[in-house]
Amino acid sequence: MTATPPPGTCIEVADVRKIYRTGRDTVEAVSGCSFTVERGEFVAILGPSGCGKSTLLMMCAGLESITSGSISIDGMPLVAPRPSIGIMFQDSTLLPWKTVIENVLFPIRIQRRPIGEYYHRARELLTLVGLSGFEDRKPHQLSGGMRQRVAICRALVSDPEFLLMDEPFSALDAITRDEMNEALLDIWDRYRKTGLFVTHSIREAVYLADRVLVMTRRPATIIEDLRVPFARPRDPSIGETKEFNEICGHLRGLIDHRATRAAA
Ligand SMILES: Nc1ncnc2c1ncn2[C@@H]1O[C@H](COP(=O)(O)OP(=O)(O)O)[C@@H](O)[C@H]1O
Ligand SMILES: [Mg+2]
Repeated sequence: MTATPPPGTCIEVADVRKIYRTGRDTVEAVSGCSFTVERGEFVAILGPSGCGKSTLLMMCAGLESITSGSISIDGMPLVAPRPSIGIMFQDSTLLPWKTVIENVLFPIRIQRRPIGEYYHRARELLTLVGLSGFEDRKPHQLSGGMRQRVAICRALVSDPEFLLMDEPFSALDAITRDEMNEALLDIWDRYRKTGLFVTHSIREAVYLADRVLVMTRRPATIIEDLRVPFARPRDPSIGETKEFNEICGHLRGLIDHRATRAAA
């Protein structure tokens, strides 16, 4: 029998395990992973490369099957992707032959919703991320940071309840990445979704999230669930504070300790 999740819970991950089988090889990517997310929370999933973060996120998106355990959204088992979930990846995955506005509106087309009703929202989102005037450009005419801004707008255009992000800024240079973190915080303050954000950057996790879940090396499980004490709206100057750096140090210690033990 599973325990009743706390009130306000909208995502419940219960004892989830994932084993990939390719030919005769098996890889246990995620093992006995459990956590809950409350509505409106921004939760970062932090862990080293190859530990199973993307696998966990894709299972939460309904895009990857679960070997055992369960994931529920609003009390309903997740068995397939849902329109209430918006997703962003490390690569913007824009369609190269479509313009910026057509890319943003693409989920609306796929979901067969009346596209005319979403133009205003698409333009509003593009303005919010600083891309007003770029609606008719093609992806190759944009920088990497601009393409990720378009991808954020595409993920939000249908006003999904959940935003799942898999290292969306990892491929960007440091300055652009900082700018994208600011853009995401602005979006969060304005639209307040429920978010899961995968990253291997400790500082990014602490700066953006309300909670940070730390995953061990493969097979990944969660070894820490830390509440970030900084109020919103957040300013980059919190990154200079003692408290911020102490939290980062604590998380780094957890990841290093587990890595050393795994190697021993
Ligand atoms: N489709 C797949 N088939 C077989 N193994 C996979 C597949 N996807 C991921 N893996 C393996 O599962 C482990 C976790 O991968 P992943 O979830 O991508 O980690 P992360 O996102 O933390 O870098 C890795 O060892 C990876 O090689
Ligand atoms: Mg990954």
